[in-house]
Amino acid sequence: MKKRLFSGMQPTGALHLGNWVGALQNWIGLLDQYDCIFCIVDYHAITIPYDVAGMERRIIDAASDYIAAGLDPARATIFVQSDVPQHTELAWVFDSVTPLGQLMRMTQFKAKTAQFADMEEEDEQVAGEEERSEFLEKAGKVNAGLFTYPVLQAADILLYKGEAVPVGEDQVQHVELTRDIARRFNNRYGEVFPECRPLLSPTPRLMGLDAVNKMSKSIGNHIPMQTPPEEIIRRVTREAVSDYRRQRRQDPGVPEECNVHAWHKVFSTPAEVEWSAQGCRSAGIGCFECKKKVAENIAGQLAPYREKRAEIAARPDYVRDVLAEGAKRCREIAAATMEEVRTKLGLTRGR
Ligand code: AMP
Ligand code: TRP
Repeated sequence: MKKRLFSGMQPTGALHLGNWVGALQNWIGLLDQYDCIFCIVDYHAITIPYDVAGMERRIIDAASDYIAAGLDPARATIFVQSDVPQHTELAWVFDSVTPLGQLMRMTQFKAKTAQFADMEEEDEQVAGEEERSEFLEKAGKVNAGLFTYPVLQAADILLYKGEAVPVGEDQVQHVELTRDIARRFNNRYGEVFPECRPLLSPTPRLMGLDAVNKMSKSIGNHIPMQTPPEEIIRRVTREAVSDYRRQRRQDPGVPEECNVHAWHKVFSTPAEVEWSAQGCRSAGIGCFECKKKVAENIAGQLAPYREKRAEIAARPDYVRDVLAEGAKRCREIAAATMEEVRTKLGLTRGR
């Protein structure tokens, strides 16, 4: 029997290259090795301000993107979190085995607290007394869902007894918390949940056009997967930041410190990676040429996705059917796990 794999993304709009290489491509590469379940986590998405009217569209878009990128519904289960009520039910159970202190250490919570309490983003650990009380004050202003977000994530994974969780680097802490929650539950009530572990993609952190931040929609340094080829080439050649040493065409650079070269390592052949490194070091090629090559490769690799995406857009019922089918399978697994959980908790009264 194959081990279970679980992962998910929020329906926050068009996916970008970071989501593609950091999550989706990794998911697709694991399809045959595991029993795969992929979730569109809409209940997670309501923890920050969002456009209510556009939510349905974003959910269908997310599913369409998954399928168009190569997540074959015949080889994986794809579903929407709110179609399976047991996610929030199990999250409540997990709330009662999770220490507040551990949730307060979650870096995503701290970052979002800073962002949504209208404060400046703070990445470092909450350390001194002063910083601590400032943090607590900010935390008092954000909604509790933002705080218990990782508990719902643990419920997502463990409801299906997921063991492999492919995510980007920023989610590793949440998967580790999930493992702690499973252990604590098992120790207190008896063995139900397996140990899960994060599976990092070969590119767990793709940097954005600005070369200083990871590619992210909220920063605006991203390239959506749906960008037309000419537009990808135009944006990369104009906006991608390359090595500052190469002010003029004849100035040599240090490829290891250039984000355009880093992108070559992700999107180009080994020969092209070498060409970019040599050309940069010797000033044999210009940054424009180097960017153009990687942009063409990105645009070319996205071609099958673009085609499939257009095909799916013409068949909206197909995506709805895939999601309905996925929800049906997931509700069955989820109901069985919750039955087991309630039995361990002493909540079945001999039923
Ligand atoms: P998000 O777009 O932050 O909701 O993330 C969805 C998934 O894509 C998560 O598994 C992230 O870890 C992954 N991801 C997002 N941005 C990047 C990036 N720049 N590089 C690698 N992975 C990413
Ligand atoms: N928190 C994840 C993110 O922001 C999304 C997510 C929710 C998830 N539940 C999950 C990822 C379960 C993996 C497994 O990207």
